Amino acid sequence: MAISRSLLFVLLVAVCAAYDNGQYDGPDEVELRLLEPAVVPDPVDGVSRWWYTPSQKAHIYRHKYPKNIEAQPRQGEDLRLPGDILPRLYTIRLLPFIEVGNWTTDGYVEIVVDCVISTVNISMNSLDLTIDLASVTVADVQTGNPIDVVNFIDEQSTRELITIQVSQPLTVGRQYRITMKFISILNALLAGFYRSSYVENGETKYLAVTQFEATDARRSFPCFDEPTMKANFTVTVGRPETWTSTSNMPLITTEPIVGMPGYVWDNYQTSVIMSSYLVAFMVSEFIGIPAEPGLSNVEFRIWARADARNLTDYSRDIGPRILEFFESFYNIDYPLPKQDMAAIPDFAAGAMENWGLITYREQYLLVDPNTATARAIQLAAVVSAHELAHQWFGNLVTMDWWNALWLNEGFASYMEYLGTDAVEPDFKMNDQFILENLQYVFGIDALETSRPINIEVNTPAEINSMFDAISYEKGSCVIRMCADFIGFETFQRGLTRYLNDNAYGNAGQDNLWAALQTQADSENVLLPATVKEIMDTWTFKMGFPLITVTRNYQTGGAIVTQNRFLLRKSNDTTDPIVYQWWVPLTYTSDYTQATKRDWLSVNEVSKTLTSLGAAANQWVIFNVDQQNYYRVAYDATNYGLIRDQLIADHQRVSDNNRAQLLDDAFTLALIESIAYSEALDLTLYLKNERDYVPWHAVLSELNYIDIMLYNLVEFPNWKNYMTSIVEPYYTAIGFQETQADPHLIKYSRIDAMNWACRLGVADCVQNALSTYATLMSQPDNLAQIVSPNEKSTILRTAIENGGQAEYDFAFNQYKTKEDTSFLVAMCASKQASVLSGLLEMLLDPTSGILRSDVNLVFNNVANNPIGNEIALDFLINRWDDIQNALGSSFFGTWYRYVCTRQNTQAGLDKLIQLRDAHPVILGNSNSVKQGLETVESNIKWVSLNQGEIGTWLAGHQPAKNSEAIRQ
Ligand code: BES
Ligand code: ZN
Repeated sequence: MAISRSLLFVLLVAVCAAYDNGQYDGPDEVELRLLEPAVVPDPVDGVSRWWYTPSQKAHIYRHKYPKNIEAQPRQGEDLRLPGDILPRLYTIRLLPFIEVGNWTTDGYVEIVVDCVISTVNISMNSLDLTIDLASVTVADVQTGNPIDVVNFIDEQSTRELITIQVSQPLTVGRQYRITMKFISILNALLAGFYRSSYVENGETKYLAVTQFEATDARRSFPCFDEPTMKANFTVTVGRPETWTSTSNMPLITTEPIVGMPGYVWDNYQTSVIMSSYLVAFMVSEFIGIPAEPGLSNVEFRIWARADARNLTDYSRDIGPRILEFFESFYNIDYPLPKQDMAAIPDFAAGAMENWGLITYREQYLLVDPNTATARAIQLAAVVSAHELAHQWFGNLVTMDWWNALWLNEGFASYMEYLGTDAVEPDFKMNDQFILENLQYVFGIDALETSRPINIEVNTPAEINSMFDAISYEKGSCVIRMCADFIGFETFQRGLTRYLNDNAYGNAGQDNLWAALQTQADSENVLLPATVKEIMDTWTFKMGFPLITVTRNYQTGGAIVTQNRFLLRKSNDTTDPIVYQWWVPLTYTSDYTQATKRDWLSVNEVSKTLTSLGAAANQWVIFNVDQQNYYRVAYDATNYGLIRDQLIADHQRVSDNNRAQLLDDAFTLALIESIAYSEALDLTLYLKNERDYVPWHAVLSELNYIDIMLYNLVEFPNWKNYMTSIVEPYYTAIGFQETQADPHLIKYSRIDAMNWACRLGVADCVQNALSTYATLMSQPDNLAQIVSPNEKSTILRTAIENGGQAEYDFAFNQYKTKEDTSFLVAMCASKQASVLSGLLEMLLDPTSGILRSDVNLVFNNVANNPIGNEIALDFLINRWDDIQNALGSSFFGTWYRYVCTRQNTQAGLDKLIQLRDAHPVILGNSNSVKQGLETVESNIKWVSLNQGEIGTWLAGHQPAKNSEAIRQ
């Protein structure tokens, strides 16, 4: 049934370690690829630590940000600081010993605080620090008089707090200086001040670097670790004299450390006022390479290990130019004299916006233009734009608590498009927004398990769980919608107002709405309610509406209704929320005319628009360019009119709306809101479609149908039909990539080739085979022979259509170059014996398949339509052998992988039997539950839709030449 695809999309993919290189199930670019914790070895300790692995887009693995925190604060404990004592200036001195067997940091901190409410208890955050009690002092700043410390309460392991008790109440309005010494450990948790490593010339080298957001500054030094408790920071770090260090602010002096020959102190300029989570420093043997001074007014440097010095050109070029763009967009100068960006070998997030010292995963800062895919280059630009956008939105003005994290992350996720577009207009970022952010997050926000954008959070675990697609992608979508209904330029001026009003301070979303309201009022922008009233409906309610448009062809009007869009309706009637929104309606029948606008109020389920301004034989499209955050359904007549327009001249409908129409229609068909024939009718024009955006939107929808029909009698007709629409797209774009190809043509080619080759379009298959043959004769020229963008499809197609020689070559390349794309390609073989052989190899440690790649192999075999049943039988028949060879950690995940393609009662029975045979391992597993739910949904989908889709396909078979293009 309808639900199955959504479950597949959102839930299954979440645990699918499919990686991105060419697994069988098509060009669907869903990228949420969390790994089971056991799969990735810890590069430092050899112990499993990372829950996720780099995927193509950072937001995909942002979902969970778990840390191996030994002592989690107890639920319900009061974790907030009282707010009676506030920090003004920190002087921090840290000397890290970056040596195997030591890893300690000697620390000293002095904090000048204001007393705003009289108290004898000075509480601040601290975690995993060994504090030297004898060094704890409190003194009156003005008089210098010491205040007696009478007690020290250490609640680090429960509340992440320490409390210094003094003998007499501190006086309101006076300043005090608190000092203490402490020792911390450079940990391997990628949080706080931590250690990282890399290999250079065969030698392992170490560095120490910080990652404080959200609540880990307290692991590095005792501090008031809440975003509103802003202060100035003066940082001093020690290092071996041959090493380097860097921090938020410029270095002012370097001096020898007395008593420690060979060591020096680096003294940094005092920072601007900022939140503790933005403090950063790094001690390493990295080199800092300056950008061309002319590109911006601030000094810009890229820090990386020396070996990577040649990979910094791209970021050195775009970074300063993006910064310049933001200065002019926000109309506020970047307030620091310099901006460093550092590539860190072991890094938990994708990148971190520390003020003046942005840290990155290496892959987002270091780009090799010869081997990078178009997507990798785009990601590097997007990540830089995102973090630079934060220098204003987040750093200059910070959310007042983590419930409003979306003000940081939603905004940066919106601004990253504008910032990237400013330096790479060829990327057409604004066209990509709806694919990457809007249609992506619809899949998550359409589940009852979604959440409102703004929710209460208290514990560090709750805070970390906010870094998800709702804060980022949904946040960016509602901002984009707001900009559209206020008017982009008014919106831009409103942002400047907001940033100026709140600079060096904190703000909640109400402050943003107030600034936008003032701006809108001053420019006479008419709205049906206040900005706050409108936007509160989008930020405090989860989900989004389906807008149903039922036209009245006699009157020229329409009834427009709103209902919450859900991919699956449970019978939960206990939810008291009324799921209605302030809905900005936009519509058009002619893109050369101004967009027509109206509103559905939060109190209206439905409303009549008296005139759409369209004749009875003219189509109407709502949600122009998909600027708004809702889906749209039409009556059958309007769908017919749209279909006819697309066939007659699809360019009369905008690219975004073509993508929207297809994405909406297939999702509506999935939940049985419209007929599949109506959705499929909208694909009839695709043989003329050449644009990336609508194609990408529809292919990810059609992928599910492709999987479901594979074993059914309808499949040949489906394949014919798909070939008839995909082949012209492929032919128009061509197999061969050229230097001059625009960015989105490269993207299009990835989709078109992937489908054309898998559908067996002869030109595609032959080109792939001959490219592979060239590669076999010159295996060391991979980068010259195969474009990185096309690599996975070419390798996969050569294995699918080649023989033993192609397979042997791939295995050899995998073994000698550790290039897993060859291994993934091997899993695409069409020979059952090869696939079962691959699975057998997983059990043999001498087979040549690395232990770290076994999950990759199983997943890709299970995803292969021929391998799916083989994978299931392997699980059933070789259970004990798997357990002996690999332990039990894979069973739940593998079970789930197998379920994706299963859609028969016999398959379900087999899976249930397997579960019941292993009650301890499978009985209670969430993966198993979700997997079985997926299969049930698949079965229901087939029973509901097979007939209708079969009939439609029979009526839409390509007339001629179809045999020639099929293999
Ligand atoms: N502020 C975040 C980094 C972060 C993420 C800190 C999670 C703590 C927890 C940063 O601005 C960010 O959003 N990074 C993204 C990459 C970005 C380009 C989408 C990330 O790490 O996923
Ligand atoms: Zn961010």
